[in-house]
Amino acid sequence: MHNHLLGHRTPGTGFGPTYHALLGEPPVISRSPWWRRKRQALLQIAGEASPCFVYDEASLHEAAEQMLRLSAIDRCFYAIKASHHPSVLRAFYQKGLGFECVSLGELELIRQHFPKLDPERILFTPNFVPQKEYETGFGYAGHVTLDGIRPLELWPETFASRHIMVRVDPGRGHGHHRHVRTAGAQSKFGVVPEALPRVAHLAKRAGATVVGLHAHVGSGILQRETWLETARFLASFAEQFSQVRLLNIGGGFGVPEHPGAVALDLDALNSELLEFRKAHPQLSLWVEPGRYLVAEAGVLLARVTQIKKKGNTRYVGIETGMNSLIRPALYGACHRIVNLSRLGEPCTITAEVVGPICETGDTLGHAQRLPPTQEGDVLLIATAGAYGRTMSSDYNLRPPATERVLRRR
Ligand SMILES: Cc1ncc(COP(=O)(O)O)c(C=O)c1O
Repeated sequence: MHNHLLGHRTPGTGFGPTYHALLGEPPVISRSPWWRRKRQALLQIAGEASPCFVYDEASLHEAAEQMLRLSAIDRCFYAIKASHHPSVLRAFYQKGLGFECVSLGELELIRQHFPKLDPERILFTPNFVPQKEYETGFGYAGHVTLDGIRPLELWPETFASRHIMVRVDPGRGHGHHRHVRTAGAQSKFGVVPEALPRVAHLAKRAGATVVGLHAHVGSGILQRETWLETARFLASFAEQFSQVRLLNIGGGFGVPEHPGAVALDLDALNSELLEFRKAHPQLSLWVEPGRYLVAEAGVLLARVTQIKKKGNTRYVGIETGMNSLIRPALYGACHRIVNLSRLGEPCTITAEVVGPICETGDTLGHAQRLPPTQEGDVLLIATAGAYGRTMSSDYNLRPPATERVLRRR
């Protein structure tokens, strides 16, 4: 066997000693964003390197600590698609998280950075990939999730004597935009519950053992009942597989982005999941968050290039746009934007913040309230640490923003 059937572990441990033993009492989390306190350092970086993403190492550690406080969760795998900056990976490696990868490129990157990493800390979740990727993936990752039935039909030999997890589609997605809802008939992911008996049959025929069930229903979710519902949903099918011992209830943990949005209450979520654990003591719970761990730790800094007024609309143009941060164009995602050079000055103008890309969609923020803003000012675009640089491109042959790190003292 190439991976191991997991027994029950002390809740909240990730992969090592218990989190509480390592960290003691919960830290007091400050409400004010870190970039207010570190404004001078950010302005200095912008002077040397804008446009650039800046990641705050201390905030990465803080976010990981918050996730690890979920004592109902046995293992937390960071979804590296959110950001694979070396400092981000190192921070979460040090915290003892595992890594969730979706391609051979991501698996190879993890191996490059951490050649001695225990494969138990690597989870591979590909979809619609050729046979070779599964074969290679089993060589890297201790855990591989199947996203459909077809691989078992086409390449049973690849799965012979393997332990596998199966992604199930709960039928209804969640999240901040239809493109990030990853369940339901319109989504390409997972296996419908009705197909699970066939999965069980094909796995048996191939000589594979289904040890876990998985569901990831979407991204940017702030309704905490989502994960309990997912756990209950998956548990209701666990009995169809005699060896299922773990449920991966996905990522998708959102951070507040819209004005007035309320942060997830992770303590309350934890209590609910602990109740679930009591009812299902034989099942371990895993999660695979990306955004929650890295979004707030990253900002995008860019200078104002030109200001324009057209009709009633004021445009504030900055030196980078959807080539660095495509989320507003792709998902209508909302990012708070402040004028870092004039932080604290009264916001008296309303503007569209736009980039230099030849697309009408190249808008980073609609109707942004800003202080009177001038060319040369540095704007800060918040919650840009997740799916910023990793989704960027050199469209229009404009290189995307580079990356910098504010180290912990
Ligand atoms: C299978 C899977 N797991 C985890 C994630 C991470 O999602 P998030 O960054 O919203 O936590 C994604 C995101 O696309 C995903 O597809």
